[in-house]
Amino acid sequence: MGVSFGRVPIDLRSLDELDSLASSAGYQPVERLVCRRDRPDAALSVGSGKAEEIDALVESCGADAVIFDNLLSPVQQRNLNRLLGVPVLDRTDLILDIFAQRARSNEGKLQVELARIEHQLTRLVRGWTHLERQRGGIGQRGGPGEKQIELDRRMLDTKARQLRSRLEKLEKQRRTRRRSRDRREAFTVSLVGYTNAGKSTLFNLLTGAGTYAADQLFATLDTLTRRLRLPSGDEVVISDTVGFVRDLPHQLVEAFRATLEETAQADLLLHVVDASAPDRDEQVEQVDKVLAEIGADTVPTVVVLNKIDQVGLPAEAQRGPCGSISRVSLSAVTGEGIQALRDALVERIAARRASSETTEGESFHPDFASVAENKCHFSSSPYDERV
Ligand code: GTP
Repeated sequence: MGVSFGRVPIDLRSLDELDSLASSAGYQPVERLVCRRDRPDAALSVGSGKAEEIDALVESCGADAVIFDNLLSPVQQRNLNRLLGVPVLDRTDLILDIFAQRARSNEGKLQVELARIEHQLTRLVRGWTHLERQRGGIGQRGGPGEKQIELDRRMLDTKARQLRSRLEKLEKQRRTRRRSRDRREAFTVSLVGYTNAGKSTLFNLLTGAGTYAADQLFATLDTLTRRLRLPSGDEVVISDTVGFVRDLPHQLVEAFRATLEETAQADLLLHVVDASAPDRDEQVEQVDKVLAEIGADTVPTVVVLNKIDQVGLPAEAQRGPCGSISRVSLSAVTGEGIQALRDALVERIAARRASSETTEGESFHPDFASVAENKCHFSSSPYDERV
């Protein structure tokens, strides 16, 4: 269900993505409804006429759930649940659901649980504001709901604190592991990119590992790390990490901050972009935004334009002003163009080695000095890429 408010047009791409998210969560989308309103209805988000229309549709197609693309307040959600007689979710619920289903590692599971609790807490706060309004606002505290809400809040707060402290311990262990990796001076590479861009497929191709790669959003949740020996004899530690998506719930970015921040420690980022995605410019922007949020926007980056087999683009490598390969077009499925990426890695490792020799161990990477050259801005048509 997509609702647009004011003059904002209905975002059909966002609805397409909601379809994919729903499929990833195990739903089978059967119908799509859109509507426009000046502003959200406080009780239902949509108007009562539209709500009846949804109800009739739920009835006629036997739907088990209704998913809204826009965020719902707890009150709207509860009223809609009651009216429609089926669970009503919004985008955040759906994303949290997928993350909960997919988390593999202990740390990943704890992170998702924390995100869920944080989400419940914001809902309680929002629900509380609503109750206060109903009772006439400030100065009229008390009432049957207040005690229960306060109890719930305290219980959730305690649980969140416990989870945070367990996560901190796990993070410390991870840091120790990373330090030992650093001591061995392994060159670290992190794969980043919008969800479904093909990170896991590329990771598999590079490392020969059997990671789960599926045409579902967020197939990968936790960071997977493998050692890779290049034909040149160089060793690389490569990590496949969580995929990004627009409107990634704030609580999730927070919960996954530790995992994401590891990305910021890498020697090199491979920013994987789905060349066949109609909104790939926007996807690149969204990823760059999260990278900036976690302080990884200054890490040297090679842009990997993936899925060229789907759009008929040639495999090629482009060099930035500093002379190093800054962009590679390839297909992680056919393997076409992969050699250029291996060459890029060998080049970067050699550059790091040369820089550490000249600076006698100082961690200074002259070849990486201009990160800007490595960033790539796309024009809107995939076919403009044939430079
Ligand atoms: P998340 O875990 O959601 O972040 O996804 P991801 O970026 O790891 O993507 P994944 O590797 O799971 O690939 C997503 C889908 O795209 C799968 O169905 C892959 O088979 C497909 N895919 C990946 N690379 C290519 C490619 O080069 N060409 C084509 N045609 N499909 C690809």
